[in-house]
Formats: sequence, C-alpha cells, structure tokens
Amino acid sequence: MQKEEQLKHIRDYVYTLFRDDETGHDYYHMERVARIAKMIAEVEQANEFLCEAAAWLHDVGDEKLFQNPKDSIKRTNAFLASILLKETDINTINHIISGVSYSKGVVVPDTLEGRIVQDADRLDAIGAIGIARTFAYGGANQQLMYHPTKKATSIQHFDDKLLKLKDFMHTKSAKELAIERHRFMESFLKQFYEEW
Ligand code: ADP
Ligand code: NI
Repeated sequence: MQKEEQLKHIRDYVYTLFRDDETGHDYYHMERVARIAKMIAEVEQANEFLCEAAAWLHDVGDEKLFQNPKDSIKRTNAFLASILLKETDINTINHIISGVSYSKGVVVPDTLEGRIVQDADRLDAIGAIGIARTFAYGGANQQLMYHPTKKATSIQHFDDKLLKLKDFMHTKSAKELAIERHRFMESFLKQFYEEW
C-alpha cells in the first residue's frame, strides 16, 4: 500500500476515535497537528511520513481521553498492521507518541521526529486556537473560566502551562510560529483582565 493511501486510512481511523470529543482534542486538533508536523518535518528534513502518521495518532492512549488507554493503543497497533505498516514504523510511531505529552514531564524526546510532533502539539495549545481549546476543555470539565482567588480555573492554565510553551519549542520553525501565538495570548489576557 502507498504511503498516501495509508495516511488516508489513518485519517479515517482517527475520525472515528475523536469526532465527538468536546474537550479540545477533537479530530481537527489531530488534523492541525498533523499538518504542522508535516510542514516542520519538511523544513527539518525529518521523516515526513512518520511525523505525519504519529501526529495524527498522538493522543491515542491519553488517559484523559480513553477509558482503557492500553486497549486503545493495542487496537491502534493492530489497525496499523492491517494497513501494512512495517513493524519498525509501528514501533517508531509508538515511541514518538509516548514522548509527546507535556504532562509526562520535561523529558526531551530523543528523536527529531519526536521533537517535531511535540512542537506541533504544543503549537496547537497556544495562540487563538489554544485559547479556544482551553475554554472548551474548562467547560467540558466543569471548571470556572476565572475566579480572582481560586486556582483551578481556565485562566490559571495560561500561567501554569500555556505561557511557558514558547520557550520549550525544539525546532526553529516552531519557535518562530510560537512567538507570534504567544504575543496573541498576552494581548488576549491583557484585554481579559481589563474587561474583568
Ligand atoms: P498534552 O497535549 O500535552 O497532553 P493536555 O492534553 O493536557 O496536554 O492539554 C491539551 C490542551 O487541553 C491544553 O493546551 C489546554 O487547552 C487544555 N487543557 C488541559 N488541561 C487544562 C486545564 N486544567 N484547564 C484548561 N485547559 C486545559
Ligand atoms: Ni494533542
């Protein structure tokens, strides 16, 4: 099977998994991350296919999103074998995915492809889309938008995580995109507090 055809199957598979997500991790999050990962991979001369495939699948097995994370990973690997991905590629994709999440700590992924997919995921957490996803996540998890003294609010998430992400980007392309998106979040927060 050609790589383009395999990617089409992966996209359709991801649609079935994430189409109903209301927490900011829907199908279009995967689509954006896949697009950005592919773009960065081209500039960085990394393996474009593996970056794109892993980016489509990067949230599979996330404990927030799957009732049975291990089972979702097992099924996905069986699916990848069914569309004739090589075992080495399946292993690499699993390795990339397991290194993506910020919540798993500040360990830098040990491959260029892993760093690219992590950059792409983090870019989708900042800027206008990042702001929208944060309030979508907060709403879906019964979290307050903002409270002047309480800590667990969506606005607090900007200080906890989102404003730090620009300094954690690995690739030059991601750093450049992040600066612009970071500025937009800062101006959003300034306006938010003014209106508050
Ligand atoms: P990762 O993709 O690194 O695993 P998460 O899945 O935890 O990170 O977060 C993805 C996005 O979900 C965040 O960028 C943010 O928009 C939203 N999110 C996660 N945790 C919170 C939170 N506590 N409050 C508001 N939004 C959150
Ligand atoms: Ni993600």
